[in-house]
Amino acid sequence: MCGIIGYIGRGQAAPVMLDGLKRLEYRGYDSSGMAVVGESGISVCKTEGKISRLDEKTDGGKTLVGFCGIGHTRWATHGAPSDINSHPHLSCDGRFAVVHNGIIENHAELRAMLETHGYAFKSETDSEVAAQLLQYLFDGDVKSTIRALIERIKGSYAFGIIFSGAPDRLYAVRKDNPLVIGLGNGENYIASDVAAALAHTHEFVILGDGEIAEITADETHYYSTDGKQIDKEPYTVDWDITRAEKGGYPHFMLKEIYDQPKALTDTVRPRIHEDEIDLDGITFSREYLDGLSGVDIVGCGSAYHAGIVGKQFIEKHCRIRVDCTLASEYIYKNPITGKDRLTVIISQSGETADSLAALRLAKKLGSRTLAVVNVVQSAIAREADDVLYTRAGPEIAVATTKGYTTQVAALYLIGLKFAITRGTITKKRYSALLSALSDLPDKVEEQLKETPVANAHTYAEAFSNQHCVFFIGRGADYAASLEGALKLKEISYVHAEAYAAGELKHGTISLVEKGTLTIAIATQSELYDKTESNVRSVSSRGGTVLAIASRENSKVRAFADGLLTIPDCDDDMSPVLTAVVLQLFAYYVAFKRGCDIDKPRNLAKSVTVE
Ligand code: AGP
Repeated sequence: MCGIIGYIGRGQAAPVMLDGLKRLEYRGYDSSGMAVVGESGISVCKTEGKISRLDEKTDGGKTLVGFCGIGHTRWATHGAPSDINSHPHLSCDGRFAVVHNGIIENHAELRAMLETHGYAFKSETDSEVAAQLLQYLFDGDVKSTIRALIERIKGSYAFGIIFSGAPDRLYAVRKDNPLVIGLGNGENYIASDVAAALAHTHEFVILGDGEIAEITADETHYYSTDGKQIDKEPYTVDWDITRAEKGGYPHFMLKEIYDQPKALTDTVRPRIHEDEIDLDGITFSREYLDGLSGVDIVGCGSAYHAGIVGKQFIEKHCRIRVDCTLASEYIYKNPITGKDRLTVIISQSGETADSLAALRLAKKLGSRTLAVVNVVQSAIAREADDVLYTRAGPEIAVATTKGYTTQVAALYLIGLKFAITRGTITKKRYSALLSALSDLPDKVEEQLKETPVANAHTYAEAFSNQHCVFFIGRGADYAASLEGALKLKEISYVHAEAYAAGELKHGTISLVEKGTLTIAIATQSELYDKTESNVRSVSSRGGTVLAIASRENSKVRAFADGLLTIPDCDDDMSPVLTAVVLQLFAYYVAFKRGCDIDKPRNLAKSVTVE
């Protein structure tokens, strides 16, 4: 997620904004910049890399003179990290400067329209479109111009805007991206996150979707989408700065669990246009897909687990054989691959050494490679033939949450695209799954608001002293159990093992004794009865069963000691919702056990050594 700060007051804006941007560093970014409006117009400084470079380039902010300005930390989504792609972006006439969080989904058509009117773009970003559009739409009144801007834009945004013709005013508007107004004494702020301004004020106003703020050093005015002035109630933030940096959550991991509706929205929805899937222009012809002998999915840890979910989904709907291999195994197994196989490399960081080595080997052997990666322009993203980015935003906690669920969602998009291209899925089923995928962010939102969160906390308290936990399931539930077990292990240090439910009786059940906890994932309707009989074999030996099922599945209550529910959804989509429940379960167990949740012992966020 990018960071926004803006200042207007009686002091120099740039030094204050530099401090604010430094407060946002923890969120992850790849470039930063500031623009200040002074008597001689707008001056801008922006740079790839750390904020220390911006500090150096502006001599601590001194080279940007003015009492009103905007600043930004960028997490690249469109266009590589670079000086020119950094924000703020200037309009061609230099009179508007804009910082932007979010995704302008119709940026390509707006850019094309503006270019026909002679606008020359400098960057590869979607955000620059907003700066040029402001100039194009300018009617002499900045607020009505901003209203015209947001009428043209599709997608999500939080904009900070300054205009050279109004050096005493700062403007802000948002939709589906956070933006707050900080209220100071003789100075005011805008910020994507209270952390950026908390050092100066604890009084804030939350801007509503489509509302425009016009801010001076002494006053703040708010306008609804139809231009009427409205009143906004300020609220007081009583967090300290450390807590604020996690958005009010005690840990980054919990913040990132709750980021998932937005991460999934940004990953899925901009790629679905009516009933069409656009994989960012990446094409797989029917002839190419029909000519494949198979697909290899390769990754490590949670990325590998996402691959298992993807394997099952792609095989089920595309009828293409999919092998999913751990990257550390793939690179030494002399893989049978070549032009007739597609290799999909999954990696949140895009820097995992084993996965990078697997990518290079697959390419060397002639396979076409597609990367599913979160970090833009990371090594794996750069070296793969094609890359489909997950748009989870920076993930700080070592244990991945939104990184994993957005990887699964990206694989669903790929699987559905392949299936409809090959004609191996009915139009009806395709539309149903596309709709279920598009609804997934709302289902996760519902999940996070409903009882399962409280239950996960309750059960985690009850089971936090377990020494060994089994996670079992069949089909997509088995795939989901793999990630559930890893989450619990890596942050709570409780041994956990994922098992195909039908496999327990072939040896492992000998480990089950009184009180042994088994988490039974039972969301797959067609496999439910089989899973039930496997679970009864656990409870009949004194094992404790915590079941995970969809809300309406009342049967499961009959044989489980506890139940965590997920919202009703298409069975194929359940691994994402199951993951959210099990992330929370693992989180609360680790919390109860006093573990270092964001930085578990012995682990790194990205394993860049083999
Ligand atoms: C997941 O919680 C772990 N942090 C780990 O398994 C991780 O998924 C694995 O190291 C792969 O990382 P990557 O996705 O950045 O390649």
